[in-house]
Amino acid sequence: MKLAILSRNSKLYSTRRLAEAARQRGHSVRVLDPLRCYMRIASQAFDMHYQGKPIAGYHAVIPRIGASVTRYGTAVLRQFELMGSYCPNPSDAILRARDKLRAHQLLAAQGIDFPVTVFGDNPDDTTDLLSMLGPPPHVIKLNEGAQGAGVMLTEKPAASRSVVEALRGLYANFVVQEFIAEAEGADLRCFVVGDRVVAAMRRQAPEGDFRSNLHRGGSALAAEANAGEQAVAVRAAQVLGLGVAGVDLIRSQRGPLVLEVNSTPGLEGIESVCGVDIAGAIVDHVAAHCHQPRTGQGRRRPS
Ligand SMILES: Nc1ncnc2c1ncn2[C@@H]1O[C@H](COP(=O)(O)OP(=O)(O)O)[C@@H](O)[C@H]1O
Ligand SMILES: [Mg+2]
Repeated sequence: MKLAILSRNSKLYSTRRLAEAARQRGHSVRVLDPLRCYMRIASQAFDMHYQGKPIAGYHAVIPRIGASVTRYGTAVLRQFELMGSYCPNPSDAILRARDKLRAHQLLAAQGIDFPVTVFGDNPDDTTDLLSMLGPPPHVIKLNEGAQGAGVMLTEKPAASRSVVEALRGLYANFVVQEFIAEAEGADLRCFVVGDRVVAAMRRQAPEGDFRSNLHRGGSALAAEANAGEQAVAVRAAQVLGLGVAGVDLIRSQRGPLVLEVNSTPGLEGIESVCGVDIAGAIVDHVAAHCHQPRTGQGRRRPS
C-alpha cells in the first residue's frame, strides 16, 4: 500500500514507529507535514500540492494531527478522504472527539456512561447549572484542553462558581463534571485498534494531583482491561467513528466511565510500558481496510 502519515514532525516517536512498522511490512510510506499540504477545491476536481509538487494516489492516510492544528489538519485530511484515501480516523471523527461536549453528547445518546457533565453559558444560570450536577467536588475542564492542562478540581461551591465566572470572562468553553473520587487519581488507557483493545495501561496521578496524564507526571503500568471495559472502550471509539483511539476509562462504583476518547493517542508510553507493537497493529488494520484511491473523471490520477 502507498501510505501517508500526516504529522508535523517525522522524528516524533509515534510518527517514527508508524513509518518503521509500515516499511517493515513492505509498504511505501511518506511523512507529510499537514501544514505544508495545500489544496485546490473545485467541483469535480480536487487537487493537492506539497512543497510545490502534486500529491495523490495514497491508498491510506494515518493522521497524527496535534491539537494546535486541528482545523487546518482536518481540512487536509478531508481532502485526502475526498481524493479516495482510506483514513482509520476520518476528519469528522477527529473533530467529534476533540470537542469534549460534543463527544459526551454522542456517547450519552448511545448509552455509554461517563461522569455527569453540565454545560451552560449565561452567568445568571450558574447556580442552577451547578445544582443540576450536585455538590462539589467538581472537575472543570476546558472543552478543547489536552494532556491534563485545563482540568481543574474545585472542592467548594464558591470555588466552582468563581472558576466558572473566570473562564466565562476569558470566553473559554468548558464543561463541569462530577468528581469520581474512588478512582483515586488513576485511570485506564485502553488503546483501541479496529474492534479490539490491543493494549492497556493503568496511569496513576503523582502525589498531590488527581490528573493521571503522563504529561502531568503520572506513572503507568501495563494493565488488563476486563471484558466489560474492553467492550466500553471499543464501543466509545466506534460511536465517534475512530478506528484508532486511546480511550481513557475511570473505574467507578457504577462501572467503567469514559473520561475521554483521544483520536491521536501517543504510542511511546504504552508501547514501552506494555511491550506491544502497537504501530504494527495500526498499520495492519489500515492495510486490511484500505482500497484503491478513486481515479477517473474529475479526480487526479494516482502518480
Ligand atoms: N470527572 C473526573 N473525576 C476524577 N478524575 C478525573 C475526572 N476527569 C478527569 N479526571 C482526571 O484528570 C485527567 C485529565 O482529564 P481528561 O478529561 O482526560 O482531560 P485531558 O484531555 O486534558 O487529558 C484524567 O486522566 C483523570 O485522571
Ligand atoms: Mg485525557
